[in-house]
Amino acid sequence: MTTAAPGAVGSFSLDGQDVPYQAGDTIMAAATRAGHYIPHLCWHPDFAPHGSCRLCTVKVDGRAGAACTVRAATGQAVQSDTAELNAQRKTLLQMLFVEGNHFCPSCEKSGNCRLQATAYQMGMEGPHFEEFYPNRPVDASHPDLLLDFNRCILCELCVRASALVDGKNVFAIGGHGIGTHLLVNSDSGQLGDTNMALADRAASICPVGVILPKRRGFAIPIGQRQFDLAPISQPAPTREDGAS
Ligand code: SF4
Ligand code: FES
Repeated sequence: MTTAAPGAVGSFSLDGQDVPYQAGDTIMAAATRAGHYIPHLCWHPDFAPHGSCRLCTVKVDGRAGAACTVRAATGQAVQSDTAELNAQRKTLLQMLFVEGNHFCPSCEKSGNCRLQATAYQMGMEGPHFEEFYPNRPVDASHPDLLLDFNRCILCELCVRASALVDGKNVFAIGGHGIGTHLLVNSDSGQLGDTNMALADRAASICPVGVILPKRRGFAIPIGQRQFDLAPISQPAPTREDGAS
């Protein structure tokens, strides 16, 4: 006899395993709570779903949907870890890599980067597509924070964290299509002209290496970092805090 999970109102199956869910849960929220990994980049448990990266696309009763936005329901048969879905994820990741400038071996975020770790998880061995090499700036104007726009994947976690947690609206997204880019909300467009602080939630939420604290570079050597030690798929409560 199995014991119902506390607070559970029902369960669905994920790759054949029973997953309990609570009222209002998305498939992603319930799966993550139960220790299952569904690849994702723009989702964070502390924020409403954004639904933009599509890494979390699963099949729900045979139909494609974003696990971070589809509500869990009793009896759903969800497939996530399939060759077809993982191949699609790998393609999405390769597109993200070539759209920006990601030079992992020299990046301070290497080993703590969710883009890099997800690419390893999906077996990505190269970019496949031609690199765009976009011309993007680095902003070192802030006394405590460095902004390297080359690595932005437009997940808007910093936008959400600054607006909803810090109450500052330091970041925004501008432009259209391939020209979509991250903006700093100051007259000069420089981070140093905002009231952003090192302790802000937005300063530690970036899943890649855009928003970095100054004077802490390589304090932990590459090879000894979070995703160097265990794959991103390994369930761990600290894995979802984004503050690596
Ligand atoms: Fe996401 Fe980081 Fe870009 Fe902000 S700076 S949108 S957190 S990738
Ligand atoms: Fe669901 Fe990005 S994690 S769309």
